[in-house]
Amino acid sequence: MNKPEIIIAMDLPNKEAVDLFINQFPVSESLYLKVGMELYYKEGPAIVTYLKEKGHRIFLDLKMHDIPNTVKSAMRQVASLGVDLTNLHAAGGKKMMEAAIEGLIEGSPDGKRPLIIAVTQLTSTSKEQMNEEQGILGTVADSALNYAKVAKAAGLDGVVCSVHEAQKVHETCGEGFIALTPGIRLAGDDAHDQTRVATPKRGKEEGSNYIVIGRSITCAENPYDVYQRVQGEIE
Ligand code: C5P
Repeated sequence: MNKPEIIIAMDLPNKEAVDLFINQFPVSESLYLKVGMELYYKEGPAIVTYLKEKGHRIFLDLKMHDIPNTVKSAMRQVASLGVDLTNLHAAGGKKMMEAAIEGLIEGSPDGKRPLIIAVTQLTSTSKEQMNEEQGILGTVADSALNYAKVAKAAGLDGVVCSVHEAQKVHETCGEGFIALTPGIRLAGDDAHDQTRVATPKRGKEEGSNYIVIGRSITCAENPYDVYQRVQGEIE
C-alpha cells in the first residue's frame, strides 16, 4: 500500500503567522506546505520564494477558473515561481486545462513543469447543494469522477477529491493519476465546514497519494506533535 505524502494547508493570514507556525517544527524537517488564497493574496509570490528557500515544497492552491487564455498566462507566472504543485477547477473545461499546461511549460525555468491537478467537487459540497445549486444531478462521487475523466483527457496529473472517491479515481484514470485528498481529520477532531472527511489512515487505505490537512494541525496547541501522529497513522 502506498504511503501518502502529508501536505499541511497553511490557511494563515500573513508571514508572521507562518513564521510562528513553522518555528514549531524542527529546522531539519522538510515539509510540504499548501499556500492558499488567504496567504498568497496577502504576501504575494515572495511567500513562495521564502518557503522554498527554507527547503519546503510548495503546493500553490489558487484554484484557477477563467477563460483558457487568462489561465494560460497566469500559469506561466505560477511556473516561474518554482512551485511543485498547483491546481485549477475542472469545471473550467478541457480547453482551459490544456491551456494551463501550456502556460506551465512555457513558464518553467528549467523545462520541468510543476504538477497540476484539478479540483473536482469541493470537499465542503454536499449532494443537495450540488443538485440544487449547480444543477448537476447524481451523486458527488459521480460528478467528481466525471471531472476526473475530463482532467485526465486534458493531460492533467491528477485531481483533488475526497478520500471516498480516491479509489474510483484510480480505477478510472489509472494508478499513476494523482488523488490528492483534503478533508482529513484525526478521529474525534472537529469537521468544521467539511462534509466528506476521513482519517489519515483511511486516506492511505483508499489510495490517496497526498493527504491535505489544515486546521487539525494549524490550530493545534502542538502542531509538530499532531503532524507526527498523522505520520504514525500512515506508517
Ligand atoms: O482545515 P482543513 O483541513 O479543512 O483544510 C483543507 C484545505 O484544503 C483548505 O485549505 C481548503 O481550501 C482545501 N481544499 C478543500 N477541498 C477541496 C480543495 C481544497 O478543502 N476540494
